[in-house]
Amino acid sequence: MNNKKKELIIESTTLWDFPTQNYGNKPHGNNKYNGVTPAFIIWNLLQRYTKEGDLVVDPMCGSGTTIDVAKELNREVIGYDLNIVRPDVIKSDARKIPLENNSVDFVFIDSPYSDNIKYSDDSKCIGKISCEKIEFFDELEKVAKEIHRILKPKKVISWLIADQWIKRKFTPTGFLLYQRLEKYFETVDLISVTRHNQTSNTGIWHYRARKFNFYLRGFKYLFIMKKVK
Ligand SMILES: C[S@@+](CC[C@H](N)C(=O)[O-])C[C@H]1O[C@@H](n2cnc3c(N)ncnc32)[C@H](O)[C@@H]1O
Repeated sequence: MNNKKKELIIESTTLWDFPTQNYGNKPHGNNKYNGVTPAFIIWNLLQRYTKEGDLVVDPMCGSGTTIDVAKELNREVIGYDLNIVRPDVIKSDARKIPLENNSVDFVFIDSPYSDNIKYSDDSKCIGKISCEKIEFFDELEKVAKEIHRILKPKKVISWLIADQWIKRKFTPTGFLLYQRLEKYFETVDLISVTRHNQTSNTGIWHYRARKFNFYLRGFKYLFIMKKVK
């Protein structure tokens, strides 16, 4: 479906397809930010797993999509990142979040998927490490452990990630991250989110995918997990 005016509705299946980054008349995050998250995803998660007044945290909030959606829904929100593009984002490494243990009601995170996007010159950016290296998952596991520390028991974390296929090599980034997350969290559900607007979504790339017998990435994983202990 490519309906440009997708209705803002709570999704009822595990397949989510949002043709545009934003909904409504006001921006949520900045759709020019490389790797910006579709605002619909965060809206849906906040509807299901939070209530008014809850504290929502995004440890890698980039252009602040989580901040804008959460504020509009009357949630408290704190967004961190190493790359500061707006004044309400706090500079902090996601592996060391300046919050108390068991103090947060919900965490959303859309981390780097590999070293495919340059977010900043900060050497601590995890997006400088290829997902072909174990180190990438070791660093994301440190982030997962930190999220587990700050989340209140029984509260939910949701993590968006995609696989990689470059230079004829497939890396199951989603599965490899999931194995790390399972050490800390119990799975609530797994959503598949249709990808739109990535740079390879052009005629020439679709042609190459058919001619050279490979697939373009068509979806991302959205892991929904819970802190149980
Ligand atoms: C996919 S983008 C997030 C996009 C964001 N959700 C939005 O809608 O604009 C990933 C972000 O992770 C940040 N990042 C990478 N390594 C980080 C780290 N160690 N600590 C905090 N942020 C980090 C990058 O700067 C980038 O903004």
